[in-house]
Amino acid sequence: MRVLVTGGAGFIGSHLVHRLLASGQHDVVNLDALRYSGNLDNLADLTGHARYTFVHADICDATTVRSILRDHRVEAVINCAAETHVDRSILDPGSFAKTDVVGTGVLLEESRQAGVHRFLQVSTDEVYGSVEIGHSKEEDSLAPRSPYSASKAGGDLLVLSYWTTYHFPVLVTRGSNTYGPNQYPEKFIPLFVTNAIDDQPLPLYGDGRYRRDWLAVDDHCAGIEHVLNHGQPGAIYNVGGGNEKENLTVAELILHYLGKPKSLIRFVTDRPGHDRRYAIDCSRLRGLGWQPKVSFEEGIRTTVEWYRTHEAWWKKIKSGEFRTYYDEMYGRRLQEGRACGS
Ligand SMILES: NC(=O)c1ccc[n+]([C@@H]2O[C@H](COP(=O)([O-])OP(=O)(O)OC[C@H]3O[C@@H](n4cnc5c(N)ncnc54)[C@H](O)[C@@H]3O)[C@@H](O)[C@H]2O)c1
Repeated sequence: MRVLVTGGAGFIGSHLVHRLLASGQHDVVNLDALRYSGNLDNLADLTGHARYTFVHADICDATTVRSILRDHRVEAVINCAAETHVDRSILDPGSFAKTDVVGTGVLLEESRQAGVHRFLQVSTDEVYGSVEIGHSKEEDSLAPRSPYSASKAGGDLLVLSYWTTYHFPVLVTRGSNTYGPNQYPEKFIPLFVTNAIDDQPLPLYGDGRYRRDWLAVDDHCAGIEHVLNHGQPGAIYNVGGGNEKENLTVAELILHYLGKPKSLIRFVTDRPGHDRRYAIDCSRLRGLGWQPKVSFEEGIRTTVEWYRTHEAWWKKIKSGEFRTYYDEMYGRRLQEGRACGS
């Protein structure tokens, strides 16, 4: 298949591009606007690859999207392009509505007009909102509570409406919290790993008892590929790792693998509207033949090892505009924070 992956210079997108090319079954065009988290270093090994093309473009730009779909005779679209960080959505909600709702709408309509055979929207379990007990199923109503999750929910609903209205063959995956190599170090796991390597404090929100279901990036990409190949048009598929952990437990495991003290943990003022727990039921995708393969302990161990051995990758990021963002997010919080055990 000739596949257009959007957001392919980001974390999940770059792993997906590698996976699709490695399968030997796809030509891949990667469309990315190279926003702050888009990083061509993630794709450096693909320079000159015969079945890979990169296009620097924005999913909101209908004219460019149209010509890419036409020129590359695209058969399937996987939309990973998004603004993705909850904390940034609190600082700048407008950019999230623009890319995650309007941009998704532009890409969707151009794909329909171009006669694309399959359109897969990569979404998140955060659209279900905070789930105090039980596990979210695909039919559950959505209750997003941050500008990020609300924008992703808007994108999902728009995508699903194209199946009902036009019988355009869309699919939606809702992945849980994903981790692994190449993740921009603003997100919880890479931030904590890289701070710990540098003996810097780890800013842990609230009481640290927030619960997430952690999913290794390879398992997430395998789930997306499986849905692309086997999913029912019009259907939603939850993709979760089955590793529900408290943030404090994850922080302690990272410190354990790096041989660093727990005193690096700082409890800091919470994120506004912080969702307590996400948990999803993945039986629909398991029924289709997918299951996660990476155990949490092994996934964290290899992820920590990757950041330990790829300092040049993340030091370049952390020395740039990231510094201003980090100081704004955590400067004051860290001054007022409480060390673990104190
Ligand atoms: N990381 C997670 O834990 C997680 C979990 C579930 C779902 N998701 C979803 O997976 C997708 C990818 O997430 P990620 O973690 O790789 O994010 P990321 O921030 O690492 O990558 C996003 C990519 O999208 C690009 N982009 C942003 N706006 C764009 C635009 N207007 N046009 C074209 N490209 C644009 C960026 O340059 C970047 O390369 C997102 O849709 C996200 O909602 C992420």
